[in-house]
Amino acid sequence: MNSSRTGLRRAALVVLSAALVATAAGTAQAHPGKAGPAKGHHDDKGHHHGKGHPKPAASLRDLADRRHVLIGTAVDTTALAEDSAYRATTAREFSSVTAENVMKWEVVEPERGRYDFSAADELVRFARAHGQQVRGHTLLWHNQLPAWLTEGVADGSIDAKELRKILREHITAEVTHFKGRIYQWDVVNEVFEEDGSLRDSIWLQQLGPSYIADAFRWAHKADPKAKLFMNDYNVEGVNAKSTAYYELAKKLRAQGVPVQGMGVQAHLDIQYGFPTDLAANLARFDRLGLQTAITEADVRMFTPSDPAKLARQASDYRGLLAACLATKGCASFTVWGFTDKYSWVPGTFEGEGEANILDADFRHKPAYAALREELAKRH
Ligand code: XIL
Repeated sequence: MNSSRTGLRRAALVVLSAALVATAAGTAQAHPGKAGPAKGHHDDKGHHHGKGHPKPAASLRDLADRRHVLIGTAVDTTALAEDSAYRATTAREFSSVTAENVMKWEVVEPERGRYDFSAADELVRFARAHGQQVRGHTLLWHNQLPAWLTEGVADGSIDAKELRKILREHITAEVTHFKGRIYQWDVVNEVFEEDGSLRDSIWLQQLGPSYIADAFRWAHKADPKAKLFMNDYNVEGVNAKSTAYYELAKKLRAQGVPVQGMGVQAHLDIQYGFPTDLAANLARFDRLGLQTAITEADVRMFTPSDPAKLARQASDYRGLLAACLATKGCASFTVWGFTDKYSWVPGTFEGEGEANILDADFRHKPAYAALREELAKRH
């Protein structure tokens, strides 16, 4: 091989790896070739490290790697495309990503049989480029369904037999498309009511309770290696709803249905008490042989925040992570977005917000420090 070309290539590689190191150290804006922060940086407490060789603070993902857990975030793919600070933070801090919306039915199958995976594919590409795993969310839900489906069921043009076929085709197409690239799938999302009865969705109404086992079987057939999860909110503690999941998992596994995990969303609100029995709840799924995951953590409050609210929020985030770390089968902890700049909370819960670990300017909030401390603890 021509040696000057080899030399060039090597130089290019050095520049590239220096740039990667710089990104990993949290200085995405650093010049290629200048590894590490050029002018020093501020740590969490605002101390300035100006002289010598400042050691960049470990990112959440650095610390999580050492604990052999994945730390994830939901990703708003519009922000990912348009906001470079958002992009750099996603790459630096997280080892797992979940599509906040772009793997949902209304996005991937906007017309019957016409699939659009373009936005989701972008995210999967981003994850691959940054050494991140991808959580799949979600195959079956009662929300964010396309109009052709809900209207077809409502006007009777889609009968039960047809709906079952539509569901099978959708699950098969989506799981097959991402085969080998998704480590956990939320196969069914939010299928129980608070009292532990099955949610009165079009799925239950049209197909009866067997749709759940069907969904898992179809997903497993399309990608036998992906870990298949149930996922819900208000299932942090031991209560009627989480017990319904526990009983369902037990029953399905006894029947040989491929259910491998329980996802606990963990959308908390500081006006309520922290679910102190979270670890006990995760432990019972552990004993059943199921994996567990915190899948959508955020901790909202009535705005504006104040130091006491932020401290309570930090304590809640810490408690969620600690319970996962204490559970053998809890291998991933995902936040539902990481910056207050992009969050579903203000649009969903009136008067509430500031639910994330970074503020709208990407500054670390006490909750970020709490997660970092918890991950860094000796165990
Ligand atoms: C939310 C998204 O964050 C919003 O952008 C969207 O408008 C509605 O859905 N439980 C879930 C998630 O399983 O899919 C939801 O995500 C939040 C609640």
